Amino acid sequence: MTNFLQLTTLSMTVALSAYFGPILISFLSPYMEQLNRLFPFISPESPSYQCAPHNYTTTLISLSPLLIYIHNFVSPSEANSLVDLGLPLLQPSPITGYGNDAQGSQSRTSWSAPLPQNESLVDCVLDRAQSFMGTLLLEGRDNMGQAQLVRYTEGQKFDLHHDWFSRPRLLDEDAQTGRRRLYNRIATIFLTLQADNITEGTGETWFPYVTAINSPTAGQTPKNERDDANATGEEKGIEIEKAEKSKLLANEWWREHEDGGLAFKAIPGNALFWVNMFPNNGSGDGRTLHAGLPVKGGVKTAMNIWPRVFFGPDA
Ligand SMILES: *[C@@H]1O[C@H](CO)[C@@H](O)[C@H](O)[C@H]1NC(C)=O
Ligand SMILES: *[C@@H]1O[C@H](CO)[C@@H](O)[C@H](O)[C@H]1NC(C)=O
Ligand SMILES: *[C@@H]1O[C@H](CO)[C@@H](O)[C@H](O)[C@H]1NC(C)=O
Ligand SMILES: *[C@@H]1O[C@H](CO)[C@@H](O)[C@H](O)[C@H]1NC(C)=O
Repeated sequence: MTNFLQLTTLSMTVALSAYFGPILISFLSPYMEQLNRLFPFISPESPSYQCAPHNYTTTLISLSPLLIYIHNFVSPSEANSLVDLGLPLLQPSPITGYGNDAQGSQSRTSWSAPLPQNESLVDCVLDRAQSFMGTLLLEGRDNMGQAQLVRYTEGQKFDLHHDWFSRPRLLDEDAQTGRRRLYNRIATIFLTLQADNITEGTGETWFPYVTAINSPTAGQTPKNERDDANATGEEKGIEIEKAEKSKLLANEWWREHEDGGLAFKAIPGNALFWVNMFPNNGSGDGRTLHAGLPVKGGVKTAMNIWPRVFFGPDA
């Protein structure tokens, strides 16, 4: 983290000349405008609400990139209340908020909504997420960002993408006040809230470049990038042996995907945590590429948490 801070400070001058000045206005993306429209929304607070202590357990899946599976991150009643909070706010998901440079592409077909800020349940879950991350965020500089509810119905999906921005972003309010700082999404917590009636084997979250630490396929190129036609008989034999071993890694939460990497099932209450950027130099980690595979037969609702790390002279 110290290295990351030093390096982001060093690279500040470059970043500032690239991102501040006459082109400032170009950062007022449609996504941020949408957030602003919803900004005044504050739900009535329930005086009886108490943020419950957490009961989650964790499983370390991958060291590099870091990916941790979190069991029971929220209770069933917390999950249902979060869905209820976000449902009335849903709109077709913007693609521009996702660090996917193919703007206007049809690769995402879900619905989403920023979850209200200063709502006690949302804050409870964000505080839980923040304490999970320990020293990843610097107090006083970084924040948890605005949580988002996302909903996939029959046939909806989100093609392969990464959550970090290729170019760090400027907040709308900072653009207005002239505050010189940029941010990026250091990590993601993807929390499944609802998976009603979805067909087994659909609606998974797939990471083609993430393999379990002791996976027999660890370090391999995903199948769709290999030239299988050129494999020798011996290589094919090894492939079959590995495929047999892979079956051992399948369980009720995840499985090895046939095209490489791991696919995580949509299980309400459970979350995936991963680190999007290299902490040593602040650049995005391409191995965090992932997809929301098409949902069949029902509906999947989830919450995205994208903690923000800020840099720049006014960070
Ligand atoms: C943790 O467990 C207690 C006792 O069962 C329960 O009351 C509480 O709601 C649970 N908290 C969460 C976040 O699941
Ligand atoms: C949320 O509460 C904090 C602290 O009370 C305040 O600074 C912030 O402006 C509030 N945000 C919204 C969106 O109301
Ligand atoms: C799931 O199926 C049950 C039984 O058919 C139905 O009552 C329920 O509304 C369905 N849930 C969703 C979210 O479609
Ligand atoms: C940042 O660090 C990672 C890990 O050491 C390295 O793979 C990547 O190429 C670096 N990025 C840049 C832009 O130097």
